[in-house]
Amino acid sequence: MTVTLVPPPAPRPPAVADPLDVLGVPGQVNLDYAATAPCARAAADAVAELLPWYASVHRGAGALSRRCTLAYERARQTVGDFLGARADDHVVFTRNTTDALNLLARALPAGTTVVTFGGEHHANLLPWPRGSVRLPVPPDPAGAVRALDAALGELRRPAPSGPRSAQQGPPVLVAVTAASNVTGERWPVAELARVARRHGARIAVDAAQLAPHAPVDVAALDVDYLALSGHKLYAPFGAGVLVGRADWLDAAPPYLAGGGATSHVGAATHDVRWATGPARHEAGTPNLLGAVALAAVCAALADADRVALHDAEQALLTRLREGFAALPHVLELRMFGPAAPRVGIVSFVVAGRDSAEVAAALAATYDIGVRDGLFCAHPLARRLLDEAAARAGRRDLPPTALRASIGLGSTTGHVDRLLAALAALA
Ligand SMILES: Cc1ncc(COP(=O)(O)O)c(C=O)c1O
Repeated sequence: MTVTLVPPPAPRPPAVADPLDVLGVPGQVNLDYAATAPCARAAADAVAELLPWYASVHRGAGALSRRCTLAYERARQTVGDFLGARADDHVVFTRNTTDALNLLARALPAGTTVVTFGGEHHANLLPWPRGSVRLPVPPDPAGAVRALDAALGELRRPAPSGPRSAQQGPPVLVAVTAASNVTGERWPVAELARVARRHGARIAVDAAQLAPHAPVDVAALDVDYLALSGHKLYAPFGAGVLVGRADWLDAAPPYLAGGGATSHVGAATHDVRWATGPARHEAGTPNLLGAVALAAVCAALADADRVALHDAEQALLTRLREGFAALPHVLELRMFGPAAPRVGIVSFVVAGRDSAEVAAALAATYDIGVRDGLFCAHPLARRLLDEAAARAGRRDLPPTALRASIGLGSTTGHVDRLLAALAALA
């Protein structure tokens, strides 16, 4: 008998983990990314790597502390680069988008008028001062540009005894979302920025829903401020960011008063000099792990083929929307029109069924997680529900809606499971 010696198989090279893989629980279909996206491996790894070193930030001379301080400031740089921050912009870490927009609201120079549209998330409707202008939701993106032009023209019309140039009038800030959290539809941010510029107004962009799906660049869009949340960008460690012009931020009272935000505190009660720069608005020990996780995802996305990611997501979104269209009892909500550019978010209703009950049944019977309600955008969601009922000529739509949202890690299997469940539930 001859024995052939078969060489043992060569050890397999370790699989290279994709930093943009997302963590999750097998069997659970998460279609609620717009509320909070799952954790990307990049974020989890960055946190795990830093944890042994975890120590104070900007407050210690030890090796651990110095490393943490460096990691925090590097994170600031990475996030700023990812968002196209200009050299003289501030990148302020916050808790989330809501926090970032509230910070900006507190930093507005006295007498600033804020102009928004009624399609905003509450985070971009409620922080603004009294006297803010809320424009109606336009029928399409071009209508948004025209409406803003007209509104700013009106606001900037010189009073007989007032300043002659728009640039000299009281400050105006336009605050607009880049992508709707209700319908996923994209707002024409670059065009709105051009209009704002022409009228001597500033513009702030709520990028909470666009940034997870498409590149957003402050300088390229020529916008003044941008806000987003780490937990919607695959970095669920409680950090957000406000990026933008330094002058208003440096002139404003600190968002939080306390340690780290001062350059001098004397013995007398009011003998305080506040720091300038991001530190002015970051009093207290910062969220190091949140900042580092957010930066890790930004770096991974910056290295990724975002066109390919976008195309894959759009293909899934089309499958989802076509699937909804084929279900006679399912109606999609929309603002601008069926073909308007949008990210991976779709709100819908099941005619004749309560949305909370449908969401509960999807979870209990099919292990599918979606959101139900009015999505913290009550004026918009109510309006879209009324419009959907009118379009379909139905009187049996529920008063709240459902929302499915996708992103990294979403698959055709997930989409098909939702469609099959909805078909079965009806
Ligand atoms: C468009 C938009 N803006 C702001 C927010 C508020 O985000 P956060 O809850 O992270 O502050 C959300 C959250 O859903 C959102 O979708």
